[in-house]
Amino acid sequence: MSDATDIFGAVAMGYVIVESNRLDDWRRFLKQGLGLHETAADGNALAFRIDAHARRFMVRRGNAEDVTVSGWQVRDEATLDIIRRRLADRNIEIEASSAEDAAFRGVKSFIRVKGPKGMAIELFTRAVTTDEPLNMLPSGFVTGPSGMGHFAITSKQPEKLLRFWQEIFDARLSDRISQEMSGITLDITFLRLNERHHSIAVAATRGLRLDPIRTRIQHMNLLVETLEDLSGTFERLTDLGYGMAHEIGQHPNDREVSFYVLTPSGFELELGWNALRVEEAGWKQGYYNAISVWGHKPEKNTPLDKFLLNLGNFRRGIRSLFATEYSPL
Ligand SMILES: [Fe+2]
Repeated sequence: MSDATDIFGAVAMGYVIVESNRLDDWRRFLKQGLGLHETAADGNALAFRIDAHARRFMVRRGNAEDVTVSGWQVRDEATLDIIRRRLADRNIEIEASSAEDAAFRGVKSFIRVKGPKGMAIELFTRAVTTDEPLNMLPSGFVTGPSGMGHFAITSKQPEKLLRFWQEIFDARLSDRISQEMSGITLDITFLRLNERHHSIAVAATRGLRLDPIRTRIQHMNLLVETLEDLSGTFERLTDLGYGMAHEIGQHPNDREVSFYVLTPSGFELELGWNALRVEEAGWKQGYYNAISVWGHKPEKNTPLDKFLLNLGNFRRGIRSLFATEYSPL
């Protein structure tokens, strides 16, 4: 197979690792709030299932308070070889996995590169699976060929970030949204790797490039099976005292109904339902001028909250002008 082979559809999000010192809070958030199936928990790490994979969502002790690792399942070894060649052609250094690291992720083995914004991108072909019945509060999560979810990432060099996913993984452009907020225009580009409308969304400020978000990801998304899963999880998280960054609303492009909750590490987690699956034949790239059709209102809306939030974002935005953003390309 040559490098010209189109590997679209052969890659899907497989797992995430969050680094945090707030393990007790993360455990409460994931187990009692989101209601995932806990498979391991000790003073240094947590692991959860959402489907037949032995591990999908891990938290390990560390200072980042961020998603530091994302794992991507590749269809087969031949496809992984194509990816390896593409990385090597671009002088992107590839690291092999240790048995211990693979076991922590619930995969047989993986390779790792340092991806955009310094997030480790790990690639594997075979996951450890289990037929032990799931013990979760929601009835189920949408995974399989769609992968486990998506990331939204803010970037000062969105062209490079998009190129990374397009050149290495043959990601396709699903659509774009532009929205003006407090005088700044935000352009968001949605890339798909498979039938999921997007696995990666990249947001950038138009004109002067700012990145006011502390973490590598602005949010990550998981998709539940039913509307009752969505509403029940919203109620549980609210009852447990977790703040909503945005209450329930709907996006115009993938038609997903979702809410955004603040995780113990400070980035947002979007829980969604009923996102459309892209039919490749006849797909038309849309262009929208609002992120939401309805809803997604911030929970805290007092003038003081707005002022503090804007002040924090403004300070970080100004600092980000002088910071360099890592790109493997
Ligand atoms: Fe999202």
